[in-house]
Amino acid sequence: MTILYKTIDYNFDISPLVDIAEDNTLEPYWKLLLQGPKYEPLRKTMASTNSYLSNLKFRDIPQNYIDLQIFAECEEIFAKIPDFDREHIYSIAQIFKVSGPLPPHQDERSCAFSIPLMGVDTPLQWYDNNNNLIEEYTYNSPILFNTIHKHGSTLNSGQRIFFQIGFKQSIQEVIPLLSI
Ligand SMILES: [Fe+2]
Repeated sequence: MTILYKTIDYNFDISPLVDIAEDNTLEPYWKLLLQGPKYEPLRKTMASTNSYLSNLKFRDIPQNYIDLQIFAECEEIFAKIPDFDREHIYSIAQIFKVSGPLPPHQDERSCAFSIPLMGVDTPLQWYDNNNNLIEEYTYNSPILFNTIHKHGSTLNSGQRIFFQIGFKQSIQEVIPLLSI
Protein backbone atom coordinates (compact mmCIF):
# COMPACT_ATOMS: atom_id res chain seq x y z
CA MET A 1 0.00 0.00 0.00
CA THR A 2 1.22 3.49 -0.83
CA ILE A 3 2.30 5.54 2.15
CA LEU A 4 1.35 9.18 1.65
CA TYR A 5 2.71 10.73 4.84
CA LYS A 6 4.14 10.08 8.27
CA THR A 7 4.02 12.58 11.11
CA ILE A 8 7.35 13.24 12.84
CA ASP A 9 6.99 13.54 16.57
CA TYR A 10 9.71 16.08 17.30
CA ASN A 11 9.43 19.61 18.60
CA PHE A 12 11.81 21.85 16.63
CA ASP A 13 12.45 25.46 17.58
CA ILE A 14 11.22 27.06 14.36
CA SER A 15 11.85 30.69 15.37
CA PRO A 16 15.30 30.98 13.65
CA LEU A 17 13.75 29.57 10.47
CA VAL A 18 10.84 32.00 10.64
CA ASP A 19 13.34 34.86 11.06
CA ILE A 20 15.23 33.71 7.96
CA ALA A 21 11.99 33.35 5.98
CA GLU A 22 11.02 36.92 6.95
CA ASP A 23 14.47 38.48 6.47
CA ASN A 24 14.00 41.11 3.75
CA THR A 25 17.74 41.32 3.12
CA LEU A 26 17.55 37.75 1.75
CA GLU A 27 14.99 38.79 -0.89
CA PRO A 28 17.55 38.54 -3.75
CA TYR A 29 18.22 34.87 -2.97
CA TRP A 30 14.60 33.72 -3.28
CA LYS A 31 13.91 32.06 -6.63
CA LEU A 32 10.66 31.70 -8.49
CA LEU A 33 10.15 28.01 -9.24
CA LEU A 34 8.42 26.02 -11.96
CA GLN A 35 10.63 27.51 -14.69
CA GLY A 36 11.25 25.46 -17.82
CA PRO A 37 9.05 23.61 -20.29
CA LYS A 38 8.36 20.63 -18.03
CA TYR A 39 6.46 22.76 -15.53
CA GLU A 40 4.77 25.03 -18.03
CA PRO A 41 1.26 23.53 -17.62
CA LEU A 42 1.49 23.85 -13.84
CA ARG A 43 2.90 27.37 -14.08
CA LYS A 44 0.10 28.41 -16.44
CA THR A 45 -2.55 27.02 -14.11
CA MET A 46 -0.98 28.88 -11.20
CA ALA A 47 -0.65 32.11 -13.18
CA SER A 48 -4.40 31.98 -13.82
CA THR A 49 -5.01 32.27 -10.07
CA ASN A 50 -2.07 34.63 -9.41
CA SER A 51 -0.40 31.94 -7.36
CA TYR A 52 3.32 31.17 -7.31
CA LEU A 53 5.93 28.97 -5.72
CA SER A 54 9.36 30.21 -4.65
CA ASN A 55 12.25 28.86 -2.63
CA LEU A 56 15.31 29.96 -0.70
CA LYS A 57 18.20 27.50 -0.58
CA PHE A 58 20.44 27.85 2.44
CA ARG A 59 23.48 27.16 0.28
CA ASP A 60 22.70 30.24 -1.84
CA ILE A 61 22.67 32.79 0.96
CA PRO A 62 25.82 34.60 2.15
CA GLN A 63 25.32 33.89 5.86
CA ASN A 64 26.22 30.42 7.05
CA TYR A 65 23.50 28.95 9.25
CA ILE A 66 24.93 25.44 9.49
CA ASP A 67 25.40 25.82 13.25
CA LEU A 68 21.66 26.30 13.83
CA GLN A 69 20.28 23.66 16.19
CA ILE A 70 17.89 22.46 13.49
CA PHE A 71 20.77 21.10 11.38
CA ALA A 72 22.24 19.22 14.35
CA GLU A 73 18.79 17.74 15.04
CA CYS A 74 18.23 16.79 11.41
CA GLU A 75 21.68 15.19 11.33
CA GLU A 76 20.63 12.96 14.24
CA ILE A 77 17.20 12.11 12.84
CA PHE A 78 18.61 11.24 9.40
CA ALA A 79 21.84 9.61 10.65
CA LYS A 80 20.98 6.23 9.11
CA ILE A 81 20.30 7.64 5.64
CA PRO A 82 23.41 7.21 3.47
CA ASP A 83 25.45 10.43 3.06
CA PHE A 84 23.09 12.57 5.15
CA ASP A 85 25.75 14.32 7.22
CA ARG A 86 25.24 17.90 8.34
CA GLU A 87 26.97 19.43 5.30
CA HIS A 88 24.81 17.45 2.90
CA ILE A 89 21.60 18.29 4.79
CA TYR A 90 22.55 21.98 4.76
CA SER A 91 23.33 21.84 1.04
CA ILE A 92 19.80 20.63 0.21
CA ALA A 93 17.81 22.49 2.91
CA GLN A 94 15.28 25.00 1.60
CA ILE A 95 12.49 27.27 2.69
CA PHE A 96 9.47 27.33 0.36
CA LYS A 97 6.76 29.92 -0.06
CA VAL A 98 3.52 29.00 -1.79
CA SER A 99 1.16 31.83 -2.50
CA GLY A 100 -2.32 30.77 -3.52
CA PRO A 101 -3.49 27.34 -4.65
CA LEU A 102 -0.87 24.75 -5.62
CA PRO A 103 -2.45 22.43 -8.23
CA PRO A 104 -1.87 18.65 -8.29
CA HIS A 105 1.63 17.76 -9.51
CA GLN A 106 4.47 15.28 -8.97
CA ASP A 107 7.95 16.31 -7.79
CA GLU A 108 11.21 14.90 -9.09
CA ARG A 109 12.19 13.97 -5.53
CA SER A 110 10.36 11.01 -3.98
CA CYS A 111 9.49 12.37 -0.57
CA ALA A 112 10.15 15.41 1.60
CA PHE A 113 10.60 16.21 5.25
CA SER A 114 8.63 19.37 5.93
CA ILE A 115 8.34 21.67 8.94
CA PRO A 116 5.48 24.19 8.75
CA LEU A 117 6.64 27.73 9.55
CA MET A 118 3.75 30.06 8.71
CA GLY A 119 0.31 29.89 7.12
CA VAL A 120 0.15 26.12 6.67
CA ASP A 121 -3.53 26.11 7.60
CA THR A 122 -5.14 24.27 4.72
CA PRO A 123 -4.57 20.60 3.84
CA LEU A 124 -1.88 18.98 1.82
CA GLN A 125 -3.78 16.78 -0.63
CA TRP A 126 -3.02 13.67 -2.68
CA TYR A 127 -4.76 12.63 -5.90
CA ASP A 128 -5.11 9.61 -8.14
CA ASN A 129 -4.12 9.74 -11.82
CA ASN A 130 -7.51 11.21 -12.70
CA ASN A 131 -7.04 14.04 -10.20
CA ASN A 132 -9.60 12.60 -7.78
CA LEU A 133 -8.76 13.57 -4.21
CA ILE A 134 -7.75 10.43 -2.30
CA GLU A 135 -6.33 11.83 0.95
CA GLU A 136 -5.73 15.13 2.71
CA TYR A 137 -3.95 16.19 5.87
CA THR A 138 -3.39 19.57 7.48
CA TYR A 139 -0.03 19.45 9.19
CA ASN A 140 0.84 21.78 12.04
CA SER A 141 3.94 19.84 13.04
CA PRO A 142 6.72 18.14 11.05
CA ILE A 143 5.93 15.41 8.52
CA LEU A 144 7.57 13.26 5.92
CA PHE A 145 5.34 13.13 2.87
CA ASN A 146 5.13 11.40 -0.48
CA THR A 147 5.96 13.91 -3.26
CA ILE A 148 6.29 11.47 -6.18
CA HIS A 149 2.62 10.65 -5.72
CA LYS A 150 0.41 13.38 -7.21
CA HIS A 151 -0.14 16.07 -4.57
CA GLY A 152 -1.02 19.72 -4.13
CA SER A 153 -2.63 22.23 -1.83
CA THR A 154 -5.52 23.54 -3.86
CA LEU A 155 -7.29 25.19 -0.91
CA ASN A 156 -4.33 27.40 -0.03
CA SER A 157 -5.43 31.00 -0.35
CA GLY A 158 -2.77 33.07 1.43
CA GLN A 159 0.91 32.37 1.77
CA ARG A 160 2.24 29.18 3.33
CA ILE A 161 5.90 28.86 4.30
CA PHE A 162 7.74 25.68 5.23
CA PHE A 163 11.25 24.31 5.69
CA GLN A 164 12.05 21.20 3.63
CA ILE A 165 14.61 18.54 3.00
CA GLY A 166 13.95 16.33 -0.03
CA PHE A 167 14.87 12.69 -0.57
CA LYS A 168 15.52 10.68 -3.72
CA GLN A 169 14.60 7.54 -1.78
CA SER A 170 10.96 6.55 -1.52
CA ILE A 171 9.00 7.27 1.66
CA GLN A 172 8.86 3.48 2.21
CA GLU A 173 12.66 3.39 2.25
CA VAL A 174 13.14 6.50 4.39
CA ILE A 175 10.68 5.71 7.19
CA PRO A 176 12.57 2.69 8.60
CA LEU A 177 15.80 4.72 8.52
CA LEU A 178 14.49 7.57 10.67
CA SER A 179 16.15 7.80 14.09
CA ILE A 180 13.10 9.05 15.95
FE1 LIG B 1 5.36 19.28 -4.71
